[in-house]
Amino acid sequence: MQHHRVKITDTTLRDGHQSLWATRMRTEDMLPVAEKLDQIGYHSLEVWGGATFDVCLRYLYEDPWERLRAIKRVVKNTPLQMLLRGQAAVGYTHYPDDVLEAFVHKSVENGIDIIRIFDALNDVRNMEVAIKATKAAGGHAQATVSYTVSPVHTIENYLQIAQQLAEMGADSICIKDMAGLLAPYKAYELVKLYKEKIGLPVQLHCHYIGGMAVGAYLKAIEAGVDVIDTASVPLAFGASQPPVETVVRALKSTPYDTGLSLRALFEVADYFEKLRKKEGKERGVTRINDMKVFDHQVPGGMITNLVSQLEEQKALHRLNEVLEEIPRVREELGYPPLVTPTSQIVGTQAVLNVLTGQRYKLIPGEVRAYVQGLYGEPPAPIDPAISRKVLGDKEMITCRPADLLEPKLDKLREEIKDLAASEEDVLSYALFPQIARRFFQARARGELEAKAKAEAEKARKNAQKDKAGGKLHGTKEGNKVNLNDLKELIKILNDTDISEISLESDGVKVSIKKGSGRAETAVVAAPEITDVPAAEVKAAVKPKPEAAVPEKKETVDDENVETVTAPMVGTFYRAPAPDADPFVEVGQKVETGQTLCIIEAMKLMNEIEAEFPGEIVDILVENGQPVEYGQPLFKIKK
Ligand code: CO
Repeated sequence: MQHHRVKITDTTLRDGHQSLWATRMRTEDMLPVAEKLDQIGYHSLEVWGGATFDVCLRYLYEDPWERLRAIKRVVKNTPLQMLLRGQAAVGYTHYPDDVLEAFVHKSVENGIDIIRIFDALNDVRNMEVAIKATKAAGGHAQATVSYTVSPVHTIENYLQIAQQLAEMGADSICIKDMAGLLAPYKAYELVKLYKEKIGLPVQLHCHYIGGMAVGAYLKAIEAGVDVIDTASVPLAFGASQPPVETVVRALKSTPYDTGLSLRALFEVADYFEKLRKKEGKERGVTRINDMKVFDHQVPGGMITNLVSQLEEQKALHRLNEVLEEIPRVREELGYPPLVTPTSQIVGTQAVLNVLTGQRYKLIPGEVRAYVQGLYGEPPAPIDPAISRKVLGDKEMITCRPADLLEPKLDKLREEIKDLAASEEDVLSYALFPQIARRFFQARARGELEAKAKAEAEKARKNAQKDKAGGKLHGTKEGNKVNLNDLKELIKILNDTDISEISLESDGVKVSIKKGSGRAETAVVAAPEITDVPAAEVKAAVKPKPEAAVPEKKETVDDENVETVTAPMVGTFYRAPAPDADPFVEVGQKVETGQTLCIIEAMKLMNEIEAEFPGEIVDILVENGQPVEYGQPLFKIKK
């Protein structure tokens, strides 16, 4: 019997917690188990890249480079692997070649052996510089084909992409099934094709989601796949990878036996299970909504993101509508595979289409950029009607997007100066300017540890609250007052002479008052506004008192003055995106369609445009301030 040992990459320290714990595992919780992981006999450990870099700086107050070095110090035998988003490195937007090349070099220098490179659109032009840089730095360049299902993603299409990647010098090919859509027999077909036609090692990366992944792995193994990706069982299942224990057991005493010790694997699992409980995190589970991926194709991490986007907008009950809108938007945008950043682009547009009640009324800058071709070439042409609506008379670009980007590393180095203590810091700054600067400042003040602790505490409290509230299970729907109803009330308050509305039920009183120019919500003795049963709510409406609070400015009494309100919860920015008009001032005339401000919500910059021509008579929010749904932003005189 011919022996064909299957090799395994462990993803627990990257994709596992990115998929299940919102990427929140800390370095101090990785190091105690790192040596044990090193001794298992894995093909590689995926420990870096993807969202981990951003989350380290943004939420954990950790230096991602230091994390990599710390793991490398302990893991002496097993190659370390990272995920790179092609020209977007570990960020969300394309970077100039000089930034990307330097980032790849430093990644290898700090301990990465294998770089898995993908592009959300499978546009090979976006992977070429990263592949070449990886090889030049002495790393293994694993080029990726992102798997999705659409009328244009045929077997010929997948073969063509892999052939182009091989020609660019890829050392191996990864089939990336981020949405758990790869059916076992399709996996067999694809792997067989690649093994016969490409002549490179093939690795298969599946997410568990609806449970096809283990079957896909077994069929792929029969077709000759070289490496598969799994996670330790406490961080497996659901949106993550299948558990290593299952695969190892399934292959035991077959020609494909992995040779890994189940006992050693369970020791690792015990460690992560303890950590999971300590952190109050859920195990990977498949909810029916997740499983509808077979229908709507929304990948693991994206569902979690959608849930938190909708929670942020206080509209979780509209998840199903959003899931129905996504395939429509995806088709209109040329069937992009749904993976970072296209998952955010399609997902957020779908959320906005549902929440505003009007399709493409609000179009985030990222969607505009996508339609313009700034992320690469979509797999199929974009719906011309949508393209016209989004671009107006702007042209779509046809070159490689990064060809339009000037080198900027020297300029950035100059900009951040002494706050950057190393070339690695300069790269952190190049990728995430504001976040990195904030991190460096906290570090300079010796505040990293305190900030990290505060964040961890906050996260633990949220996890407990989630559990108590059963948030993810949609239990708050039905006959309860939700915040959407309150938003409506706030709107009524703002649009009428009524000055105060109170909602009362047993032990809970919600009172909404009109202050100077905006409605404010005060919750009295209510642990959760959403816990008020609608049937028991009585609304007490008080008429506006005669002597009303004087308005801020006389002009706002003018009946020709319209108030522009926030269409979403987010952060208000007067300074618009780089390619937009300079920001507006009081006294300025604005045209229909002119950008008034940006609201950063759901990780995207949303341009708020004037809906009629007029003159700005008041700006009611400070730059950088959080805004609520319906909150007045501008007064514009028609
Ligand atoms: Co993944």
